[in-house]
Amino acid sequence: MDEIKGGFEFLGKFSRVKWNLKIQQFFFIFFIVLRNGIYWIHHLYNVIRLKMAGVCIGMNFSTAGVMILDVCPGSEVTIGKNVIIVSDSRRSNASSLAFPAKIKTLSASSKIIIGDNVGLNGTSITSRSKTICIGAGTIIAPNVIIVDSDFHKPWPPDSRMDYPGDELDGDIQIGNNCWIGMNTIILKGVKIGENSIIGAGSVIVKNIPPNSLAGGVPAKVVKVYK
Ligand SMILES: CC(C)(COP(=O)(O)OP(=O)(O)OC[C@H]1O[C@@H](n2cnc3c(N)ncnc32)[C@H](O)[C@@H]1OP(=O)(O)O)[C@@H](O)C(=O)NCCC(=O)NCCS
Repeated sequence: MDEIKGGFEFLGKFSRVKWNLKIQQFFFIFFIVLRNGIYWIHHLYNVIRLKMAGVCIGMNFSTAGVMILDVCPGSEVTIGKNVIIVSDSRRSNASSLAFPAKIKTLSASSKIIIGDNVGLNGTSITSRSKTICIGAGTIIAPNVIIVDSDFHKPWPPDSRMDYPGDELDGDIQIGNNCWIGMNTIILKGVKIGENSIIGAGSVIVKNIPPNSLAGGVPAKVVKVYK
């Protein structure tokens, strides 16, 4: 004991601080390596599930965090080249990501097509029966919901719970190079023209023309870029 005590005294206060810093640096690097390892395992898990579901994935696909995947047999999901799907708020540049990305198809006629160079951040895409198409180069900010159906018939009230049809569902088309702001909801049957921007927190119920900035509930065009 005396020897050890003597050793510490010999190191002095300064050396102990240096030693503590080395321990901190070690754990800092250790946790970065561990975190990257976990991301890698998550990515592998996502890719295996996507492949098993018959999803066509382009080159240079990357994911962060475990995404929610529910693909109905017979439906079609296609992911283009250089697509990134983020489901982990630590990997999202916009730190407001609230939930993991989700891809869900509910019938054999459902189709989800994600173009090249698309970035999804915790985006929830549900196709009940129609086609949802996201154009190349489009970026989607955190917590956006895209859904091609209302799932219930609005009227008469007693028909709401047993609505089997899909006649009220509608294709959704988001053009190339769009930017969809966080917490936006995109409802059935709408088209967003290429290069357009949707402001944060908007609800899209009608078509948005190309090269425009639209926002609000329901979203309206507030500016057209020239
Ligand atoms: C859409 C956005 C980028 C526009 O920013 P901007 O170019 O600086 O635009 P401005 O603030 O000058 O606003 C232009 C007009 O759009 C309106 N507007 C902007 N954002 C809006 C929104 N979310 N909802 C409704 N209207 C909106 C403004 O009121 C203004 O209208 P006015 O001309 O009648 O006064 C910004 O408002 C936004 O929503 N940012 C969030 C982006 C995001 O989600 N980032 C996460 C990381 S990807």
